[in-house]
Amino acid sequence: MRETRVPETKTSDVLIIGSGAAGLTAALNLADRFKVTVLAKGAMNEGSTAWAQGGIAAVLEEGDTFESHIEDTMIAGAGLNDRATVEFVVTQAPAAIARLEELGVPFATEGNALHLTREGGHSHRRIVHVADATGWAVQEALQRAATDHPNITLVPDMVAIDLATGKHEERYSGAGHVWGVYAVNRATGRVEVYTARATILATGGAGRTYLFSTAPRGATGDGIAMAWRAGCRVSNMEMMQFHPTCLYNLEVKNFLITEAVRGEGGHLLIPETGYRFMPDFDPRLELAPRDVVARAIDHEIKRLGLDYVHLDISHKGEAFIREHFPNIHEKLLGLGIDMTKDPIPVVPAQHYTCGGVVVDLDGRTDLPGLYAAGECSESGLHGANRLASNSLLECFVFGEACANHIAEHWDELPAPPPIRAWDESRVEDSDEEVVIKQNWTEIRRFMWNYVGIVRTTKRLERAQHRIRMLTDEVNDYYGHFRVTPDLIELRNLLQTAELIVRSALHRHESRGLHYTLDYPDLLPEAVDTILVP
Ligand code: FAD
Ligand code: SIN
Repeated sequence: MRETRVPETKTSDVLIIGSGAAGLTAALNLADRFKVTVLAKGAMNEGSTAWAQGGIAAVLEEGDTFESHIEDTMIAGAGLNDRATVEFVVTQAPAAIARLEELGVPFATEGNALHLTREGGHSHRRIVHVADATGWAVQEALQRAATDHPNITLVPDMVAIDLATGKHEERYSGAGHVWGVYAVNRATGRVEVYTARATILATGGAGRTYLFSTAPRGATGDGIAMAWRAGCRVSNMEMMQFHPTCLYNLEVKNFLITEAVRGEGGHLLIPETGYRFMPDFDPRLELAPRDVVARAIDHEIKRLGLDYVHLDISHKGEAFIREHFPNIHEKLLGLGIDMTKDPIPVVPAQHYTCGGVVVDLDGRTDLPGLYAAGECSESGLHGANRLASNSLLECFVFGEACANHIAEHWDELPAPPPIRAWDESRVEDSDEEVVIKQNWTEIRRFMWNYVGIVRTTKRLERAQHRIRMLTDEVNDYYGHFRVTPDLIELRNLLQTAELIVRSALHRHESRGLHYTLDYPDLLPEAVDTILVP
């Protein structure tokens, strides 16, 4: 055993963990005044942002109103939303879209106006988009601007482990401030320290807690777990959103078929009979909110013993489909499905983490110096079920809100003190990589089976029991071996799963995305599930 010291601490004015829509928006809003460092755990474009398909919601159509967007958001959210947050975000949406246009995002147009598509739960055409690959265009524009800015340093392949707080100060000041983060450099395997006056968590969601998810590999809830361990409250973690239409394919897993396919007239059908089943479930048909449609599909799949249902838009014709869904059309052709003629086999899959680190309207968490924005946060916007295309919007609005608050309160933010080096005395490499992989798969499988679209108390308790056993094993690993990116993610995945299950057991009703056979009714009052560390 030997003690090694980290050679240097890298200090900037503001540290941002995450390079998706939330992190880069915050960076661009800070960089004219401050030196900003942005960490990503892989390449800069590997978060969910680049994968977004449908678009961004904003009131832009004549006849549409903020009130209507607010109402739609609250209805989808089953009343659990914070109305002040919903108003805050919805009213800022048109300005956020205008700023993205200034950055060069090539939104689809119709005549002189932006083309607006429609998605479930929206009572108007309200979604600006770049064909069916909106996120890619947004990520490219934000990343280009960040790369070009002399005050922004982008650091890929740097995996944050834990926040540096008071207990990590060389001389404990008792300030209770967050000073930055410890992170593993993938290239060297060494742990580095990044400090700043303010730290923003923009680490995305926790979709990979589930076996089937539309989210990228890195969606392991790292920011939520780090904030929780540091002492932040988390809220509504039981509200895991399942997207109704993920491609069912034995080779290509996790490919989303955008909700805009239903928005533009796609029908959900039972294979073999071609029966359109949504009229049996909801008068809004295929455009009911996601929780309703995902539950209806799950019900039909289980009732009829199916592997999938069909999503069919072939009746709209080849020219329309090629124009609106060029990327999905191309991808499916490569798999032998021609969506201009054939129905698409689909199943629900985990898609979005509605819960997260509790923040206020300035993006502030419970800890001084720590902010959070985007999918890792719980701002009150989404309530019990996120309305389609409100997520990217939240990233832009809260990325900017964090930046504004930091700029306005800069003089009150103390400079970071010296932080202790990471104890790298645990230099032993684990030869049990297989155990880490096995545990990853096990968590994701039981979360899917026991904590999915339809829950029961017994299933949740089974999941909780397994989480307890695995936690002992993973903690033992974490205490004895060199930290690796896989081990960090496994630890966070497990922590996030624990928070989801604990929150689900706490809610004795069925509301929005949390549906349990043991408490099928809605309670009269909508109350957040807030876990306190
Ligand atoms: P992300 O874009 O996920 O970025 C997370 C960042 O954090 C990454 O840079 C990652 O490297 C970094 N990070 C994470 N952990 C660590 C760590 N330990 N150390 C260092 N860095 C770390 N929403 C919409 O509004 N409209 C849509 O059309 C839409 N379509 C979607 C389609 C798909 C397939 C998916 C998966 C989601 C979609 N969503 C959509 C949701 C939306 O894309 C996400 O909620 C949003 O992009 C999240 O952005 P973010 O900035 O919070 O995080
Ligand atoms: C989609 O395109 O269906 C995803 C939209 C969203 O998640 O908001």
